[in-house]
Amino acid sequence: MTPERTPPARTPPARIALRGPALSLKADPFALPAGDCLDHIEDALIVIEDGVIAAIGPYADLAPGLSPEIDLIDHRTGLIVPGFIDAHVHYPQLQMIGAYGTQLLEWLDAYTFPAEMSFADAAHAERVAGLFLRELLRAGTTTAMVYCTVHPHSVDAFFAESERFNTRMIAGKVLMDRNAPAPLLDTAQRGFEESAALIARWHRRGRQLYCVTPRFAPTSTEAQLDAAGALLHEANGLFLQTHLCENPGEVEWVRELFPARASYLDVYAAAGLVGPRSMFGHAVHVHEGDFCTCHQAGAGLAHCPTSNLFLGSGLFRLFEAVDPRRPVRVGLGTDVGGGTSLSQLQSLNEAYKVAALTGHKLNAVQGLYLATLGGARALHLDDRLGRLAPGYEADIVVLDPKATPLLGFRTDYCNSIEELVFVLMTLGDDRAVRATYVAGAPVYDRDRTGERFRYPTHA
Ligand code: GUN
Ligand code: ZN
Repeated sequence: MTPERTPPARTPPARIALRGPALSLKADPFALPAGDCLDHIEDALIVIEDGVIAAIGPYADLAPGLSPEIDLIDHRTGLIVPGFIDAHVHYPQLQMIGAYGTQLLEWLDAYTFPAEMSFADAAHAERVAGLFLRELLRAGTTTAMVYCTVHPHSVDAFFAESERFNTRMIAGKVLMDRNAPAPLLDTAQRGFEESAALIARWHRRGRQLYCVTPRFAPTSTEAQLDAAGALLHEANGLFLQTHLCENPGEVEWVRELFPARASYLDVYAAAGLVGPRSMFGHAVHVHEGDFCTCHQAGAGLAHCPTSNLFLGSGLFRLFEAVDPRRPVRVGLGTDVGGGTSLSQLQSLNEAYKVAALTGHKLNAVQGLYLATLGGARALHLDDRLGRLAPGYEADIVVLDPKATPLLGFRTDYCNSIEELVFVLMTLGDDRAVRATYVAGAPVYDRDRTGERFRYPTHA
C-alpha cells in the first residue's frame, strides 16, 4: 500500500519499551510446521518509536543500549502478542447480540434491521461507536473490518471515535436498495454518492481505511452491485466486504434472484467485487471452485465460528480453505451480533470445536496465526500489522495467564508455550487481556483504577 494521505491525528509517546515474554508468528502454520512459524522470546524487550516497533530482542541483549529516559513498562507476568484482528463485525448490532431463536433470514428481519433503524439517530450512533471501540480494545482487538449501517453518519461516528484512539480500522456504509425495510434503503445512485463522499472524508485519513460494503446479494440490485464495483476505483487501497454462502436458505434465495449467475460468488465476480482486499463473511456453503476463485483473486474469507454456531448456519471448512495447494486467505471474524463474543480468544475456542467436528485439530499456533498475522494477510496489511517485528505498527496486547482463578490454576500445569496459548484460547476472554497498546500508546489498562481507557495523548 502507498503511504497515508495525512499523518495520524494523534502522536503516541515518542519512545516506550515493553518487557516480558513475547510471542508472534513469522510464517503460515497451515503450510509449515508450527515450530518454524513461531517467534518466541522468553524475556523480550520491545522498543517502540513513533508508533512503530523499532527493535525487539532478548532483554539481556537490548537493555544495555536503552536510553534512561525511555518509558519502560514491565509485563513479565503477562504474554505479549500482536493486537488481534477481527475480519468481520457489525458495530450497530451490539444492542441485539444474543437474540433468541432464529436462523439468518428471520434473524435479520426480527432483530437486525430494527436495531440498525435506531441508527437514524446520530447521537445513538456516537454512543454505540464509543462503547464498541472500548469493547474491542478490552478484548484485545486493535484492527477490525466493520459494517456500519446505511446511514452515512454511522460511518462518521465510527471513524471519528477510531481516530481518537488512533486505531487502524476498516469500515464502510452498508449499501442496500431492496429487500429490507424502507428506512434502511438507499438507491444505487445515492449509495454511490454517499460512499464516494465517505471515501473522500475518511479513506487513509490517519490510520482509517474505507471499505465498500454491499450487505449481501439479496439486498442489492445488480445496478447497486455494479455501482459498488465502480466505487472500488474511487481511490487506491479500498476494501470490499460482504456476506457469502452463510445459510442454505440464503444461498437458495440468491439462486432465485440471480438465475443467470453460475454461483453466489459469481454474482459478486460479475460486478468486479472479487479481488485483493475483498473479504467475504462466512463462506460456509461454498464449493471447490469458489475456493479456487478466491485463491486466484487474492480475496479473503472470514471464518466466523461463534456466529455460524449461534445462528445454526453450518461448519466452515477451514482446513479445506487453506489447503496449501491453493491456499485461500482466511481471517477470523466475530460477526457480532450474529456472533456471541467480541473476544477473539472465544472465537478460537469455537473455531477449535468447528475444526474438530470437521475432522481436524486447530492447534494453538494456527489459532494465534488466524487472530493476528493470518488476519493481516487476509486483509493484505501484513506489511504493517500482525507481527512483533521491527517496522510493524505497535498494536500490541498483553495477555494475563492468571486472569481468573481457573486460568491461574490450569496454567500452572502448562509445559510449553503452545499449551499456554491453547489454554488461553479455550478458557480466556476479555478478562485475560491485561493491557492494549495502539501504535505504541497505552489505550486500555484492565487494572488501572478509575478510567481504564485513555485516548493517546501528544508526546
Ligand atoms: N447477511 C446479511 N446481513 C447479515 C448480518 O448482518 N449478519 C450476518 N451474520 N449475516 C448477514
Ligand atoms: Zn456479518
